[in-house]
Amino acid sequence: MSIHHVNADELFNKGKEVFLGVGNCAACHTLSNAGSNAMVGPNLNEIRPDIQRTIMAVKNGIGVMPAMEGILSNEEIEAVSHYVSISAEQ
Ligand code: HEC
Repeated sequence: MSIHHVNADELFNKGKEVFLGVGNCAACHTLSNAGSNAMVGPNLNEIRPDIQRTIMAVKNGIGVMPAMEGILSNEEIEAVSHYVSISAEQ
């Protein structure tokens, strides 16, 4: 159990790094855990997307949000989507 939790925390922290850094998510989205207040895209604390919905949006893009497949690695996409789905609930 504890090992699983350590891994989950690592994925969460990695996802937060991607959100604030290379993924550029914070430039467009409000998410209180990340301390971001941008309003180009929907407020993630309000729409509370699950992991699958977030993976779809990040991989394929949606509306003016750019597709990030090929820009972010699959690992980064998974991590940032895990992070968003968990932290949006907070
Ligand atoms: C250039 C601005 C921009 C960036 C960068 C951006 N987004 Fe978005 N995002 C948007 C906009 C705008 C929408 C709404 C699109 C629509 O519904 O037409 C959106 C929608 C979403 C949605 C909702 C998808 C749905 O099914 O309704 C999620 C989840 C999301 N973004 C997560 C992210 C994550 C995670 C990142 C970083 C990897 C990111 N976004 C980067 C602008 C952006």
